[in-house]
Amino acid sequence: NMAAARLISRLALITGGGSGIGRAVCHRFASEGASVVVADISEESANETLRSLQSDLRGQSHMAAKVDVSSKESITQLVTSIQTHYFQPPSVCVNAAGITQDDFLLNMTEEQFDRVVQVNLKGSFLVTQAVAQALVACGAPKGSIVTVGSIVGKVGNIGQANYAASKAGVEGLTRTAAKELSRFEIRCNCVLPGFISTPMTDKVPEKVITKMKSLVPMGRMGEPAEVADVCAFLASDDSRYITGCSIEVTGGLFIG
Ligand SMILES: NC(=O)c1ccc[n+]([C@@H]2O[C@H](COP(=O)([O-])OP(=O)(O)OC[C@H]3O[C@@H](n4cnc5c(N)ncnc54)[C@H](O)[C@@H]3O)[C@@H](O)[C@H]2O)c1
Repeated sequence: NMAAARLISRLALITGGGSGIGRAVCHRFASEGASVVVADISEESANETLRSLQSDLRGQSHMAAKVDVSSKESITQLVTSIQTHYFQPPSVCVNAAGITQDDFLLNMTEEQFDRVVQVNLKGSFLVTQAVAQALVACGAPKGSIVTVGSIVGKVGNIGQANYAASKAGVEGLTRTAAKELSRFEIRCNCVLPGFISTPMTDKVPEKVITKMKSLVPMGRMGEPAEVADVCAFLASDDSRYITGCSIEVTGGLFIG
């Protein structure tokens, strides 16, 4: 797979960059020439991603940072340290940090609901807002913000009332941000993965995996790199007339 070099001289912030889809996005973006800020609540995983990044293209310099996306203070610190390090805000941002805390609706605690919404939905809001504010403040905005939603936000999923609500929420957030930020040439889009093989889905029982696979028209789970490829498209100028949209990366799962 000959990588394109569509992200040369772009600075890209990836939350959740320490694992799974976020890590694959870091790899893909670095291979396309971007300077990558790997941000994760696990500093160790962020550093592990950082060490594995390609950095032989023009002007590339990567960094890793610890951030809790659900904390405004933590995000403010992150954006400040990026600007100190690179003398500019990131013009590309991928919100890939996310968690699950599954339980049936009848048993779900308020804490389970709140935590998942805080990380997945509020975290995407806080990061999108901070990046947009920094871009607008720098006077020459232009950027692309990609938020990882989920097909579950559209169709629901047993045991995931909190998660499905948070993922439906990021689509509404993204569409609104797209409308408000287009005058600054900042595009905002979602990718909606289906069933992707990552540490998050490693928790799913084998029985459920087999059942899910049988529902996927393409007959297999997706790979993180297959989601990352779509993120690279949305981050790059190849998608310059696309904003406020959600692209499903599901192998055909739930197409109806
Ligand atoms: N795996 C799938 O099948 C699938 C499907 C649809 C959507 N998604 C979404 O894709 C995204 C990535 O998921 P994944 O499967 O790669 O999971 P993952 O668990 O492998 O990676 C998630 C990363 O986010 C980090 N993180 C968690 N809470 C954080 C916080 N508060 N602040 C900063 N970082 C935090 C984790 O440390 C981890 O490194 C998530 O938003 C997830 O909801 C995944």
